[in-house]
Amino acid sequence: MSKPILILNGPNLNLLGTREPEIYGATTLPQVEDMCREEASARGFEISFHQSNSEAEIIGWIQGAVSGAAGIIINPAAFTHTSVAILDALKMVPCPVIELHISNPHAREEFRHKSFVSLAATGVICGLGVDGYKLAIQAMAGLLGRSA
Ligand code: DQA
Repeated sequence: MSKPILILNGPNLNLLGTREPEIYGATTLPQVEDMCREEASARGFEISFHQSNSEAEIIGWIQGAVSGAAGIIINPAAFTHTSVAILDALKMVPCPVIELHISNPHAREEFRHKSFVSLAATGVICGLGVDGYKLAIQAMAGLLGRSA
């Protein structure tokens, strides 16, 4: 059985749809998960989709990906700008890593311009709304040699 694409979502993304909809839109996280599952399955991939407000839990999933995932798509949310621990975990995984943001952090407050996670990312997608998740799956399929 082939390994899934791990899709990780950081703090406050559980409230997608109601959280600052003028920035993040009206789509909920379960709707994003459905969208991802459909996009991945069209390319012959399974996904393993998670959200946590806890840095420790996210690090646990990344550590599990060292041997258990084909690739990682991660929206680290606010941990993007603070977490050396998530960066260090990502540096251990051999698979491609795509960093994803719904908004464009570079067009926002200065503290959002710095990403620790980018240092370990194969590529970054930002500012394209929740469609970024679909684009990330398409890009990951390409990186894994399975673009449809
Ligand atoms: C975010 C951008 C981050 O700066 C912010 O803290 C988030 C969401 C995004 O998806 O645009 O929580 O990662």
